Amino acid sequence: MNVLVIGKGGREHALVWKLAQSPRVKRVYCAPGNAGTALDGVNVPIDVNEFSHLIRFAKAENIGLTVVGPEDPLANGIVDAFQAQGLRIFGPSKAAAQIEGSKVYSKKLMRHADVPTAEFRVFDHPEPARKYIETREYPVVVKADGLAAGKGVIVCNTTDDAMEAVNRIMVREEFGHSAGRQIVIEKKLEGEELSVMALVAGRTIIPLASSQDHKRAFDGDTGPNTGGMGAYSPAPLGTPKLLDEIETHALVPTVHAMKRARTPFRGILYAGVIVTNQGPRILEYNCRLGDPETQPILMRLKTDLFDLLDAAVDERLDTFTEHQLEWDPRPAVCVVIASGGYPGNYSKGKIIKGLDDAAQLPDVKVFHAGTKLESGMIVTDGGRVLGVTALGDTLAQAKARAYEAVAKISFPGAFCRKDIADKAINKELSL
Ligand code: GLY
Repeated sequence: MNVLVIGKGGREHALVWKLAQSPRVKRVYCAPGNAGTALDGVNVPIDVNEFSHLIRFAKAENIGLTVVGPEDPLANGIVDAFQAQGLRIFGPSKAAAQIEGSKVYSKKLMRHADVPTAEFRVFDHPEPARKYIETREYPVVVKADGLAAGKGVIVCNTTDDAMEAVNRIMVREEFGHSAGRQIVIEKKLEGEELSVMALVAGRTIIPLASSQDHKRAFDGDTGPNTGGMGAYSPAPLGTPKLLDEIETHALVPTVHAMKRARTPFRGILYAGVIVTNQGPRILEYNCRLGDPETQPILMRLKTDLFDLLDAAVDERLDTFTEHQLEWDPRPAVCVVIASGGYPGNYSKGKIIKGLDDAAQLPDVKVFHAGTKLESGMIVTDGGRVLGVTALGDTLAQAKARAYEAVAKISFPGAFCRKDIADKAINKELSL
């Protein structure tokens, strides 16, 4: 079967690489892809939101399964558009993708399904929001309702910060008119974060291995928020007991509530969890795989990914159980190399050197994100450029191998965090 992956980041390169390993897959296309997806598959120059163009391509090339990476096309209804044409596609419908596309929808769903989450209120005018903030005796998080490329969640330490967040989202409409029409104001929770993703179809929920992201730009979790500067899997924080609790008290009631509301979720349900002193709380839901969490997770997955996604699309996921998923027991660490200036302004088109040397190292895979081919050379084309991912017998070994590979790669302005996985490694050492 021919497969089409939609997107152009590190997550999509990992999907192309993994799907291409299936004996049931003939060719993997990626739209629009990057320099890495062109090496492991075939790129197609179509934007992720050009649905009619993508549909024409899928019909012409006999695509048996389309797999959607990013949230934007999902929230815009790519799954509905493909299905209306009789095409098989993995991901949630537009209605179900609201779980990520609308923070208001998501928080109300969590409240309705009794999912543990931070207390919150929804506002559609700035003035009542300001009054509410003045009466809070704790720090808050202000969230734009709609998608804002990961920037619409503002963590506020002071009342002034929160007032400014309301102005940015609702008055100055920095994240767009529609994303800022409503806001959620919720209590800021303290704890360590964990990413828990699960394959969902019908009533079947199959959790994937746990992982942890590193959202801040610089070492020691300092600097501005980014799309994610590195990740590892499994996360020692995600003990079997904790993961079980998250499945029972969050994933199961959420999936059931969506089914009852006639917006059943089919795809990857990603719970952004914070582990507080009172137990796990859901910070947010996403309707797709995490980036860069997917890179170490797929490095470890031994089960045929195509078989899994194919079964989900046909609502046959119940033929698999969590225990049938086979994982490499070794941990994996992914270190993101970014362009100087990211997540702010950065330049593109820098020649990347050392990729072949890095690829020679055992148990290393360099996933491309913001890269492209230009005159036969691989150059930078985005903020997050590469996700250098390695397996090791321990997290410390996986980390050492990933950084060994990172050291072989260079381009002007390149930077990465030096402390990916350190918190978990220190925890392992102190046990
Ligand atoms: N790594 C965070 C995300 O994918 O949303």
